[in-house]
Amino acid sequence: MSINEIEEKLSQVLKPGRYRHSQGVAYTAANMAMVFDQDIEKAFRAGMLHDCAKGYSLKEQEDFCRKYGICLDEMLPDSPQLMHSALAPFIARDCYQEEDPEILAAIECHTTGKPGMTPLEQIIFIADYMEPNRKMIPGLPEVRRLAFQDLDLCTRTILKNTIDYLKSQGQKIGHKTIETYEFYQA
Ligand SMILES: [Fe+2]
Ligand SMILES: [Fe+2]
Repeated sequence: MSINEIEEKLSQVLKPGRYRHSQGVAYTAANMAMVFDQDIEKAFRAGMLHDCAKGYSLKEQEDFCRKYGICLDEMLPDSPQLMHSALAPFIARDCYQEEDPEILAAIECHTTGKPGMTPLEQIIFIADYMEPNRKMIPGLPEVRRLAFQDLDLCTRTILKNTIDYLKSQGQKIGHKTIETYEFYQA
């Protein structure tokens, strides 16, 4: 699909705020790709598509996960928000004809990150966290500055801020988040 067709379809299935966020991630990711010498179009497409599964309700996402054989053990009941990123590569492929393995991998790990991410994967993970429409949270200005200076340090800072926040709220921290943080701390 052309980027115009992707945008047209996403604007119909996503809520306006979610669509606006996806645009924010796409343009932020494209700018980061310019800084770090990555493929600008891939970064833009991945940014547009990363939340494509959010057009479905949690119940529908659960049904899709079963259809695609995605293991739900780690997601339900505690972290249902992880379903949309696990589903993203399947929906992007089946509904938006996206075949690029680098794009599909980047949208799959956008919520928690993963150890040893490629620059494109880091760019999508970071852009999702700090695109301009995101509401202000502690540490965000530093993350936004680092996003254009040092991908590893920026990734580590996001993970640390996320873990600190979850701890302060008494919420459970997923093992993938901890694993990723430990990788980027080293
Ligand atoms: Fe997401
Ligand atoms: Fe997102």
